[in-house]
Amino acid sequence: MADEERGIPQHVAIILDGNGRWAKQKHMPRTFGHRAGAKTLETICDDAWELGVKYLTVYAFSTENWKRSVEEVTAIMSILRNYLETSIARANKNNMRVRVIGERHRLDPDIQVAITNLEEATKDNTGLQFNIALNYGGRDDIVRAMQKAAGLVAEGKLSPEDITEEYISNHLDTAGIPDPDLLIRTSGEIRISNFMPWQVSYSEFYFTDTLWPDFNKEELAKALSWYQTRDRRFGGVKQ
Ligand code: FPP
Repeated sequence: MADEERGIPQHVAIILDGNGRWAKQKHMPRTFGHRAGAKTLETICDDAWELGVKYLTVYAFSTENWKRSVEEVTAIMSILRNYLETSIARANKNNMRVRVIGERHRLDPDIQVAITNLEEATKDNTGLQFNIALNYGGRDDIVRAMQKAAGLVAEGKLSPEDITEEYISNHLDTAGIPDPDLLIRTSGEIRISNFMPWQVSYSEFYFTDTLWPDFNKEELAKALSWYQTRDRRFGGVKQ
């Protein structure tokens, strides 16, 4: 039976949250939690693919996360550097394609190069389509797309009527990626925090108290089972 028939969501999005509290519970610095969180990110990709998920998108660093202390941001960037460096070999071994969404020009130049290299090296992989949101904000995504469209309208290359829902979807960072079917947020917070607000319009939302570093295959399977009980109508009426 095809995965869709079994009700496996094609695209799962995750707001990974709770690294800091996980570390605090262990009387360790927040960066200890972030390192554990990055490890969880590696294993959850394998788990998602084994459970039949085709697209996975994670919110790793938001446009608002720059407000954290310089020490914490520096530590997260160092974890990110290490993650990107080791990702090419891991992704190619697992046939995983990696893409980054978000405004990447604010990231350090060496990180931007590492992202381009990772995207380029994995672009033909047909396994899990893994997207990492870095310096990502959903409103910012929409603003950037609209500013480009407005520029084209001003130049007479686009007419206002051409700006349809399809046009907008095709000009966001997630262009070509289906909208998430299921959005998971860890650590007990019940909000979407500017994560793909356009794209999650019809997604099912699943909230768990589990802190991100403790999230695992069993937890993901639980979320997928819950999803299978949902009755998605997309605003229509069930036949
Ligand atoms: C979530 O927990 C942490 C973040 C949103 C920032 C960094 C994410 C990681 C290090 C995971 C892996 C990502 C990369 C870059 C490879 P929190 O700090 O918001 O937790 P809290 O709410 O308990 O403080």
